[in-house]
Amino acid sequence: MLIPGRSKVDKKAEQMMRAYEEESLMLEKRSEEFEVIEEVFDRATLEAIYKLMQKKVIDKIYGVVKSGKEARIYHGRGFNGEELALKIYLTTTSEFRKGMFKYIDGDPRFKKVKKGVRGRDNLIYTWTKKEFSNLSLARDAGVMVPNPIAFYRNVLVMSFIGRDGVPAPLLKEVEPLNPREFYKSLLDNVRLLYSKAGLVHGDLSEYNVMVLDDFPVIFDVSQAVLKSHPLSDELLLRDVERINFYFGRLGVDTYRVEDIKRWVKGGAKILHKNPS
Ligand SMILES: Nc1ncnc2c1ncn2[C@@H]1O[C@H](COP(=O)(O)OP(=O)(O)O)[C@@H](O)[C@H]1O
Ligand SMILES: [Mg+2]
Repeated sequence: MLIPGRSKVDKKAEQMMRAYEEESLMLEKRSEEFEVIEEVFDRATLEAIYKLMQKKVIDKIYGVVKSGKEARIYHGRGFNGEELALKIYLTTTSEFRKGMFKYIDGDPRFKKVKKGVRGRDNLIYTWTKKEFSNLSLARDAGVMVPNPIAFYRNVLVMSFIGRDGVPAPLLKEVEPLNPREFYKSLLDNVRLLYSKAGLVHGDLSEYNVMVLDDFPVIFDVSQAVLKSHPLSDELLLRDVERINFYFGRLGVDTYRVEDIKRWVKGGAKILHKNPS
């Protein structure tokens, strides 16, 4: 969407931004749960949010839940009052761009993306679309992930995992009550992700798994690749090793990495435990 001068959308976006800033200021006073909104979105992001409001996907945006290196997660609500998580990709360092390209290159879904074409936006929009597409594949396969709702440009909207703006804790932050069952459940999800969604997460660790009612919810799937991707084997191995390392430390008898890999891929039926 190209907007010459101050178009209608442009003005509307500014109005919305002002209302949004006022509301966040109020929220900030009312509740200490939300971080101060110190940063103003760029125009393209503002328009994307406005578009999603027009489409009745987003009704309200509150504040930042978490800031990552490249993306920020906002808490919002849909028109039925349901809690939303908005993942907004904001920056692209050249390091991030280089990193991203590795995962997009070799994926037939995103063949048209060329490095440098229409600069930063093209790659970051593709990245957002890739995360949405991966979430959708995972959800359809029955993997426990946030429900993807919509995306536009660099804004991804999904269901909020948590309550009242407080996200469910990360596996990094809490130990599951039943580590052994949690371990098995996580492996089941990895297998489902591979066999039914045809994906390898590629960045699985205690930082990208939430604990919800003592069950795992896998998220942050932007870098996940199709199993046909040249890197998929290597990434699967790393994912499994990290899971084993985490649960090994909690005293769980983990299975052998090679067995898990074969089992995930539909081969091995029996999993052998690591010698303790
Ligand atoms: N759908 C969601 N619901 C609630 N919180 C979320 C959701 N998605 C992400 N978060 C929170 O935001 C943080 C960053 O999200 P993540 O997708 O991992 O971004 P990054 O790519 O920066 O690692 C997570 O650690 C989690 O606490
Ligand atoms: Mg993450």
